[in-house]
Amino acid sequence: MFEQLAALQKEALARIAACIDTEALQELKVAYLGKKGSITQISRSMGALDAAERPRLGQAVNTAKDKLEAALAEALRRIKEAELAQKLARERDDISLPGAAFALGRGHILSQVTRQIEDIFLGMGYTVAEGPEVELDYYNFEAMNIPPEHPARDMQDSFYFSNSMLLRTHTSPVQAHVMEAMRPAIPVKIICPGRVYRRDDDATHSPMFHQVEGLYIDNRVTLADLKGTLLAFAQRMFGPERQIRLRPSYFPFTEPSAEVDISCFVCGGAGCRLCKGSGWIEILGSGMVHPNVLRISGYDPDQVSGFAFGMGVERIAMLKYGINDMRLLFDNDMRFLAQF
Ligand code: PHE
Repeated sequence: MFEQLAALQKEALARIAACIDTEALQELKVAYLGKKGSITQISRSMGALDAAERPRLGQAVNTAKDKLEAALAEALRRIKEAELAQKLARERDDISLPGAAFALGRGHILSQVTRQIEDIFLGMGYTVAEGPEVELDYYNFEAMNIPPEHPARDMQDSFYFSNSMLLRTHTSPVQAHVMEAMRPAIPVKIICPGRVYRRDDDATHSPMFHQVEGLYIDNRVTLADLKGTLLAFAQRMFGPERQIRLRPSYFPFTEPSAEVDISCFVCGGAGCRLCKGSGWIEILGSGMVHPNVLRISGYDPDQVSGFAFGMGVERIAMLKYGINDMRLLFDNDMRFLAQF
């Protein structure tokens, strides 16, 4: 009986070691260690032995059972591991792993503000037009009613490539490009966002900054249309309580010209640090399109009239979000930019 047990054990260990799936392993377990399993049978037939031999055989059966149990457990671990490796090889992505967090980006604050301005004017029927940043003197100045030697050129000193070519100092030349392309069709109703360049550099001026130009030409466009349009803009941008004020000013390409102020959105007009006690904050330049500007680009000032305005995007963003140094907008420090 001892030999039979040793033979069974040897056979069982070999079959367990060769086993490669969990079901077959379970069958082996039943075949040797189950109620009717061959090793269990041996302890049943113990009665045939001498009383002195019985405990020895009992011990031998238990040892064999322990060995088999250990071998079965080890085989199960081995088979499970192989199955997992196979599964992973099949599915390259382990969908049971937690996902990798995806940091969402966002538009730069100046892009966001430009979009907001565009949205407001798109809502009033304007379309977006763009022009070149490297501009001819003709469009930047002459078509804007600023002839050579005109003193107004000094207000906007720029970077020149040659006598006749420069980085545009404002978005106003886009007015002339659009008029040339559309003449004599009306209405002309556009806004022009874009970069402009001037020889300025301090906490509130950058040599490169952004403007949004507006131009509306049609039959009988009046100063009242300009005022209503800019009031609607101010209220959409800075809050429904905002009022605007037009202050007489001078631009060569508009007549009359006006600087536009909004009632201070911090103090509501009472006077505070932001508005320097005046209750008003300047936000843009504007006016009725000068007859010369219409004529130069192919419109008849006796037939049509128009208004134009130009605003600085940095200035609008700084006012709206309380930013006190323009250079923050260009430093690309994520700790600053991620706030917007
Ligand atoms: N181009 C002017 C500037 O850059 C702004 C402006 C545009 C004023 C249109 C009047 C009309 O200062």
